[in-house]
Amino acid sequence: MEQTYVMVKPDGVQRGLVGEVISRIEKRGLKVVALRMNVIAEATAKEHYGEHAARPFFPSLIEFITSGPSVSMVVAGKNAVKVMRAINGATNPVDAAPGTIRGDFALDVGRNVVHASDSPEAAVREIAIHFKDSEIGKYSRVDEVCLY
Ligand code: TYD
Ligand code: MG
Repeated sequence: MEQTYVMVKPDGVQRGLVGEVISRIEKRGLKVVALRMNVIAEATAKEHYGEHAARPFFPSLIEFITSGPSVSMVVAGKNAVKVMRAINGATNPVDAAPGTIRGDFALDVGRNVVHASDSPEAAVREIAIHFKDSEIGKYSRVDEVCLY
């Protein structure tokens, strides 16, 4: 089953949206298989967002993402990467559809509540940055079915 890395960013934690985000993930049928709250170290944040190192928003992005506790998860399920990106909505909340997390709870691209890996390759890379293999749980949801 595909896995993806998901984060409730510091703004989401500070606004009490952790439960809301997890609830949407679980109700969709995806499975949380690893979960942690911590303040992400600067070096870890820079590695995580390495693709954006040359962008003008990079310094403020790193400052924000390390500014307080965030919640990191590994989320598993069929097409988990694509489904999770759809649950989150467009990067800029102005473009995010109502019904998505960003479309329902955010207004500013710099405070867009959630992160999710943008490809299966990115997911493998990001999961390895934030979790050890031994921290990822294995269990079946009772509603788990394999329909190809
Ligand atoms: P990006 O990887 O493009 O978006 P996503 O989170 O949807 O994968 O950008 C990473 C984060 O950087 C984004 O969630 C918010 C921040 N960001 C800005 O602050 N300003 C910007 O113009 C962009 C594109 C992103
Ligand atoms: Mg991205």
